[in-house]
Amino acid sequence: MKDLLLAIESSCDDSSIAVINIQNLECLFHEKISQEQDHEGFGGVVPELAARLHAKALPKILEKCKPYFPYLAAVAATCSPGLSVSLLGGISMAKTLAMLLKVPLIGVNHLEGHIYSLFLDSEADFKGLGVLLVSGGHTLVADMDAGGVILSRSLDDSFGESFDKVSRMLGMGYPGGERVQNLALKARSKTLRFTLPMTRNKSYDYSFSGLKNQVRLEVLKKNHEKAELAYAFEEAATEHILYKLKRLFKQKSFKSFGVVGGAAANLKLRLKLGKLCEENDCKLILAPLKYCSDNAVMIARCARQQYLQGDFASFKDELLFAKDFGISLKS
Ligand code: KG4
Ligand code: ZN
Repeated sequence: MKDLLLAIESSCDDSSIAVINIQNLECLFHEKISQEQDHEGFGGVVPELAARLHAKALPKILEKCKPYFPYLAAVAATCSPGLSVSLLGGISMAKTLAMLLKVPLIGVNHLEGHIYSLFLDSEADFKGLGVLLVSGGHTLVADMDAGGVILSRSLDDSFGESFDKVSRMLGMGYPGGERVQNLALKARSKTLRFTLPMTRNKSYDYSFSGLKNQVRLEVLKKNHEKAELAYAFEEAATEHILYKLKRLFKQKSFKSFGVVGGAAANLKLRLKLGKLCEENDCKLILAPLKYCSDNAVMIARCARQQYLQGDFASFKDELLFAKDFGISLKS
């Protein structure tokens, strides 16, 4: 019986393929090859290098999926947003495989994929659900009950990106999230405070570039230990998210609140959100730590929803790049 779905993720610096069962959501195969170390020396992801590494890694992983080919009902790939040269590798592979196997092709929005990391082994329930998505490319809050309406977003750098940039300023390289988090734990003095961004602005939006600049100026003064700077930055960045969310929670009464994306692994953020949800009688749903960062399992999970809705891509689409956020967010 053809009841499996294969999905490919290659939007940034992770090459990943997963196979799941469409009926019971069981994950039968998942492998991810991260390029983090290859980009580390450059302080960020180099698109051309990422594309070449995807071209090496994806066929290696796909080879292992061969036994599942006869049972595939559809093939999916992340098609936006992301680095176009990286996306292209996954899209071309998915297109070729779907054509050869004569099964439908599905194009997945990467952000929707992250949201489905909340429901990897259960049916999605968007009733009364708000979601905070914090990754290297995005920071946004969406109302899932309203089909993914975006309530707030970052006006400049994303939450994860600000950790990457601060990490670079502190000489710790890329990716910065976990490094800054771990360094902050070693702070001996916790008196340094950065000013919270946009507290006088009534919108629920975020901004991290000013905070990044505050850190840069403090680094130049050489008055503080690196760990102290990391602590003060993490404190301000997470408090900024909380400050705006507290106000949003007064307007919107979410029944449950999900946190997804690579930076959803931040422990301080998780703790603070836990407290906020408790105070607001709201259930906090955290994406499993293992599936916060980019992976093909969440892409397969989202594609499965699209498969059930008959939301297929056309083989005639030149590249499949346009997949607007919100289209597949109906449970
Ligand atoms: O979702 P993701 O894997 O890739 C994108 O779609 O962007 O997110 C990667 C981002 C990076 O910016 C990384 O530094 C950040 O997530 N990140 C963290 C933590 N772990 C990863 N940021 C803050 N704290 C963490 N513990
Ligand atoms: Zn991502």
